[in-house]
Amino acid sequence: MNVPVRRAVATDAPAMAQVLRRSITELCVADHGNDPQRLGPWLENKTAAQVATWLAAPDNCCVVALLETGISGVGLVTAKGEILLCYVDPGARFRGVSAALLTALEDHARALGLAEVRLEATLTARRFYAARGYRPQGCAKQAFGTLTCQAMAKSL
Ligand SMILES: CC(C)(COP(=O)(O)OP(=O)(O)OC[C@H]1O[C@@H](n2cnc3c(N)ncnc32)[C@H](O)[C@@H]1OP(=O)(O)O)[C@@H](O)C(=O)NCCC(=O)NCCS
Repeated sequence: MNVPVRRAVATDAPAMAQVLRRSITELCVADHGNDPQRLGPWLENKTAAQVATWLAAPDNCCVVALLETGISGVGLVTAKGEILLCYVDPGARFRGVSAALLTALEDHARALGLAEVRLEATLTARRFYAARGYRPQGCAKQAFGTLTCQAMAKSL
């Protein structure tokens, strides 16, 4: 099934923040190990107010994936081709949500005329991205102070 994806609007911000927080907390345990020192900084900016500022930034393209239960995934790509968010709600895992988000973000970057998209992959999602043509760029590095992320890129 193709999961519907649309551009996010301002009123989506609370639901988007909830998906981000649930996805990180429940799905990314391999990354944060349920350690408050690693989880806390990661969640700190995943608030409705912060999501609203991301939505309002003209260089950002924010998208949401919709299932029967509502907003089930959140994606964000910048005008420079940086994919900053690609998160699925735990209740919607393995139903094609992340794949649909990624396709929409890549399509947007392609429509902007960009030749490449880049992201910082969690340990949780690294294989998912590799299976979709993303290649590691250099060594793994730190994000939010204590997380280890792998820079990856894909030619469009
Ligand atoms: C790993 C993850 C990214 C996959 O996203 P998803 O929306 O659950 O997955 P999709 O339904 O789009 O399917 C993608 C892949 O999941 C895997 N998958 C699908 N069903 C599965 C199942 N029942 N069991 C295990 N893996 C399964 C497959 O590899 C599938 O790829 P394929 O379609 O090429 O076979 C997601 O589950 C996750 O854990 N996200 C956490 C947030 C995160 O780390 N985001 C990235 C920030 S950089």
